[in-house]
Amino acid sequence: MNIRLEQPKDWREVETLTREAFWNVYRPGCQEHFVLNQYRNNPAFIPELDFVMEEGGRMIGHVMFSKAQITLTDGSAFPSWTFGPISIHPDFKRKGYGLKLLRYALDRARETGVGLLQMEGNIEFYKHAGFDLASKLRIHYHGEPAENEVPYFLALELIPGYWGNREGTYCPPPGYFVADAQPDVFAAYDAGFPPKEKHLAPGQLPQFCKSCGKPLSKDDDCGHNADGSINFDYCQYCSASSI
Ligand SMILES: CC(C)(COP(=O)(O)OP(=O)(O)OC[C@H]1O[C@@H](n2cnc3c(N)ncnc32)[C@H](O)[C@@H]1OP(=O)(O)O)[C@@H](O)C(=O)NCCC(=O)NCCS
Repeated sequence: MNIRLEQPKDWREVETLTREAFWNVYRPGCQEHFVLNQYRNNPAFIPELDFVMEEGGRMIGHVMFSKAQITLTDGSAFPSWTFGPISIHPDFKRKGYGLKLLRYALDRARETGVGLLQMEGNIEFYKHAGFDLASKLRIHYHGEPAENEVPYFLALELIPGYWGNREGTYCPPPGYFVADAQPDVFAAYDAGFPPKEKHLAPGQLPQFCKSCGKPLSKDDDCGHNADGSINFDYCQYCSASSI
């Protein structure tokens, strides 16, 4: 197993890997490969913390980091960092590769002066690398009441004392929302990859009909597009009138 910096020749392979890793995990299909594709041109992207993992000559993992900030209670901006997407190819999941990649990347991040990380994720994985609920460090999540303990919002002080006894609120950088901001550009980009079926599946983020608000928890709850494909934006009752 080898971990090294990503190079331009890897870009397409890494985006394909990211798409495979995230497909149908958090939503029908995924957006993370487009986030990565766009982030490489973003000034917040950190090229020296952009790692790929290889096993037996095959690309099996990737992680990238981004500059971010926390708005302190006095309104000032405090420099911080975030990371992701982090991907392990589905064939290699739950074999310890993800944790090895994450721990390696965190060590390199600390060496380059990254003092504090916060991100959204499953604590059952990230706790093995030292992450805990961000609320314990008095870092709140945008849109959530400050007194809420947000179970998916995690943080890790990489350099002891960097955060100190501050209090503030984190909002993910806009670079993570490019697919929603440019849906047509994203659709054209995704169409350049091999076709894959989208499905609603257990464990995904809650999805709701954009017209009536009905929860969409399985494919049969959804409407259909004119070409017969599933329309994951609307329920079966609203789709006919909404598209
Ligand atoms: C999340 C991901 C990076 C983890 O990498 P991995 O190689 O599969 O995980 P590891 O084998 O290193 O896991 C180490 C431990 O973390 C925990 N863990 C890992 N994935 C978990 C999950 N999905 N749910 C709960 N616990 C998990 C387990 O305790 C695991 O040990 P175990 O397998 O002995 O029980 C990888 O599964 C992946 O690419 N998933 C899809 C994309 C994604 O969700 N990325 C993270 C977005 S926040």
